[in-house]
Amino acid sequence: MKGKAPAKLRVLCLSGPNLQLLGTREPSIYGTETLADIHRRLIARGKELGVAVTCAQSNHEGELLDRIGGARGKFEGLLVNAAALTHTSLALFDAIKAVGLPCVEVHLSNPEAREAYRHKSWVAPACVGKVAGFGGDSYVLALEGLVKYLQKRA
Ligand code: DQA
Repeated sequence: MKGKAPAKLRVLCLSGPNLQLLGTREPSIYGTETLADIHRRLIARGKELGVAVTCAQSNHEGELLDRIGGARGKFEGLLVNAAALTHTSLALFDAIKAVGLPCVEVHLSNPEAREAYRHKSWVAPACVGKVAGFGGDSYVLALEGLVKYLQKRA
């Protein structure tokens, strides 16, 4: 980052499997906000912070890996809600480590307060931090934390 940081920070936000169903998916756990609503809020908060936020969702692990792997030089940081892949994907851990960009793990719910099979995160050890349990606000809080982290590092 030092010396060659672009004028405007760029953040890539990725959401994994089944999160396209937010709004109707188990609203008692995930709320009624759609992913498009969350993306709009995130982009708007990014504008206030002077940060360009790009959002994408995929049900396909390979597409998430491709997007993370291609992020260097295009983005300064990552927000990743890997959804169920959080609990299974060594490949996502490797991808985040490999690209070397600061990443914040995001969850709408608090997986550690849920079923035991959601307690393990493969992604967490590759991340600088995590925000979980605040619904769509988790994404916005994660962006704020990531931006502060990036600004301190610059
Ligand atoms: C989730 C939590 C995961 O355990 C679950 O598989 C999801 C959503 C969340 O945002 O709360 O799909 O990542």
